[in-house]
Amino acid sequence: MRLRNGEYGYGAVTKALHWLTVAAVVAQFAVGWSMEADDAAFDREDDRIDALEDAGGDRVEAEIDRLEDELDHREDNYVADAASGLLGGDGFADGLSRAELHVLLGLSLILLALMRVVWRRVGGLPPWAEHLGTGERRLEAMLEKALLTMLFVVPATGLILIAVGARWLPLHVAAQVVFLAVISIHVGLVLKHTVVRRNRHLARML
Ligand code: HEM
Ligand code: HEM
Repeated sequence: MRLRNGEYGYGAVTKALHWLTVAAVVAQFAVGWSMEADDAAFDREDDRIDALEDAGGDRVEAEIDRLEDELDHREDNYVADAASGLLGGDGFADGLSRAELHVLLGLSLILLALMRVVWRRVGGLPPWAEHLGTGERRLEAMLEKALLTMLFVVPATGLILIAVGARWLPLHVAAQVVFLAVISIHVGLVLKHTVVRRNRHLARML
């Protein structure tokens, strides 16, 4: 198998980068959604503090308020705390938490996205399949660029989130929704073109 892209289609490097990215994105969504279990743990702790407040009355109210503020802060910043722990070098002795895994996968995705853009520049692309009209070629070219752009935008909104706090979560989620929409169109067109014909002449990603 050839390394570069060419008349014969995609080379090994493009394919490897493509499928590594797909695997990392799938894993990242799985980890992201499973982080809701961490949120549930914070909620349980909140309920416990509420119960203490009910039992203790005015006497312990100030202490309870302090505990609640501290819990809110931890809940808002636990991914950021995981990131600074990783950067601060506290190592993996205590295993890898969901939040740490999310940060590591996110950083790997930024790296993969950079490598893909560089390799596209260096290695070029296979020629278009003859049967694709100008309209469809333009759509495919735009879609490829949109996919690559979202590979930067989604992790960037994640980094914003850990820099400024959890109130920006809707931005991260909105970027994911756009990403999933673009991926769906991509996969839809790929399926259409593998059933009918390929996008790029003789190009096989699979
Ligand atoms: C392609 C890359 C990424 C994907 C697909 C992704 C996906 C997700 C998903 C599905 C969630 C759960 C959202 C929800 O609660 O509904 C999430 C939450 C989050 N992500 Fe990402 N993420 C990515 C990159 C990053 C990066 C690079 C960072 C930061 C270094 C990051 C930081 C966060 C934070 C702070 C949360 C909120 C955790 C919480 O408070 O529950 N993400 N992400
Ligand atoms: C994380 C999600 C995905 C991203 C970001 C992505 C991105 C891309 C990009 C940018 C290209 C153009 C070639 C290049 O510049 O490397 C491409 C081509 C391709 N992708 Fe994906 N892709 C994703 C998911 C998938 C999935 C799930 C499939 C399987 C159904 C798939 C199948 C293909 C195929 C077959 C091609 C070659 C199309 C052709 O020219 O014939 N991709 N992908």
